[in-house]
Amino acid sequence: MKHLISLYDLTPDDLTEILNRATDLKQLFRAGERPQLLPGRVLAQLFEKPSLRTRNSFESAMIHLGGAGIFMTTAEAGLNGRESLSDVARVLSSFSDLITMRTFSHQLITDFARYSLCPVINGLSDERHPCQALTDLLTIRETLGQLRGTHLVFVGDGNNVAMSLAIASAMVGMKMTLAAPDGFQFSAAFLSELTRRYPGHQTFREQDAAKAVATADVVYTDVWASMGQENEAAARSRAFAAFQVNEVLMHKAPRSARFMHDLPAKRGLEVTDDVIDGAQSIVFQQAENRMHLARGLFAWLLGK
Ligand code: CP
Ligand code: NVA
Repeated sequence: MKHLISLYDLTPDDLTEILNRATDLKQLFRAGERPQLLPGRVLAQLFEKPSLRTRNSFESAMIHLGGAGIFMTTAEAGLNGRESLSDVARVLSSFSDLITMRTFSHQLITDFARYSLCPVINGLSDERHPCQALTDLLTIRETLGQLRGTHLVFVGDGNNVAMSLAIASAMVGMKMTLAAPDGFQFSAAFLSELTRRYPGHQTFREQDAAKAVATADVVYTDVWASMGQENEAAARSRAFAAFQVNEVLMHKAPRSARFMHDLPAKRGLEVTDDVIDGAQSIVFQQAENRMHLARGLFAWLLGK
């Protein structure tokens, strides 16, 4: 059975197939067609962090495909010690066709999947956000026409979103630079695993955001303090002060460069209003694509 816990669960061919499914389904959707590929199928969602895009794009996707979604927090599901993880996984997956999870601990999703009778999809953990990265590839492909050779410059924290984008970049031959202050770069362990799995691929690092964006096709940022890091927010705002994506920084990038953000954004911190609402921004196309990507992914995972 296939799960999607990290992009390492996919081959580059799988990834391309998912993007192609999503593109086809998006075109049909635009034409007013919603193929009922998953009639009567149940998506169960277990989240321990808030979500606008992920939760609702997953549920909408399942409804558009003819199925339905049910939602519970991990605490409501009993993952707070009410019963064992393996029992929750076996029981819930026996009612469901797909399970999506959003957790702090990445290991929790991996452990849950070991006992699940149906595919498990990571809807964000502290270490990965694979559905976001797949959506971002879809968005870049439809905007720039290709992925291979495209230069994505991530300005900000080497977090869950950045790590999934780095894996995605390696899988499709995109160049990725992480522009981050010392202490917020990718760990050596993460980079060595990426190189082991994708030999020949290199992720670049830069401490000067202006220098990094000079050759960018995409300038990407995310919050400086992720969910669970709220008590570090003030210290992070100081550490990332020189990494705000504002008009001055965007002027250092080629005029053709696009701006992306997975959202939610802290306007005035990692990005200014003029950039996120400006002509180079594709953030709302990116957000909409969460739903199209989810349909492509669900159909692919369930063999439809
Ligand atoms: N980008 C994203 O995952 O948004 P949510 O946290 O709202 O799901
Ligand atoms: N890095 C952010 C992404 C939110 C979608 C977080 O984990 O909070």
